[in-house]
Amino acid sequence: MFALTLNDLREEIGECELCSLCKSRTRLVFGDGNDEASLLFVGEAPGRAEDAQGLPFVGPAGKLLDTLLDGIGLKRSDVYITNVVKCRPPGNRDPYPEEIEACNPFLRSQLSIIKPKIVCALGRIAASALLGKNVQMTRMHGQKFPMPGFFLVPVYHPAAALRNPATVKVIEEDFGLLRMYLNEDEEPPPGESQTEPEQMGLF
Ligand code: URA
Repeated sequence: MFALTLNDLREEIGECELCSLCKSRTRLVFGDGNDEASLLFVGEAPGRAEDAQGLPFVGPAGKLLDTLLDGIGLKRSDVYITNVVKCRPPGNRDPYPEEIEACNPFLRSQLSIIKPKIVCALGRIAASALLGKNVQMTRMHGQKFPMPGFFLVPVYHPAAALRNPATVKVIEEDFGLLRMYLNEDEEPPPGESQTEPEQMGLF
C-alpha cells in the first residue's frame, strides 16, 4: 500500500515516532498549500511558530516568504510548502542526518503525489537533502538542476535574509528566476520522480 493523495499520506504518517524529534514536538508539520502546485517549496524544519500551529512557514521567515511570493504574482494557495523534516528540532538546531533520513520517504511521497514542475529548496539543508550531496549555496543558488521528474532550484533560506538584509536582494532575484523557469515550456526530465515509499519499505 502507498498513499495516492496527501490526505492518505497524512493519515499513514499519523503520530510518527520514527525519530526522536517526536518526543519534543508539539505538532507534526506535514505541509500546506495546493496539492496540484507546479511550484513546491521545501524548507528545513518547523520552527517555534510552526510547531505551535502545525503549519509550515508561519513565523517571521514565513512572512518574508509571503512577500517574496507576492513579488512574483503568487499566493500561498498557488504553491505547496513543506519541510525536509516534519518536526521541530529542539532549539531550532539543524536536523541530524538520521532525522533527515527517517523523514525522507514522507517528502518523496509528497513529491510523487503533487508532481511539481519546480522544487525550490529553501536553504542548504533542503538543497543537499534533495540533491543527495552537499550543496554550496554561494555557487548553486538560483540555478535550475534537472532531476528525475522535476527541476530543483536552490535559493537562500528566508531566515538567512532576516539575519543579513543584503541577502534579501539575492533571494528576490532568484525568485524572479523561479518565475521565469515556471513560464518556460521546458518539461522536467522524465522518470518516476521519486522512489515509491513502498520500495523504501516504509508502508
Ligand atoms: N523555517 C523552515 O525551514 N521551515 C519552516 O517551516 C519555518 C521556518
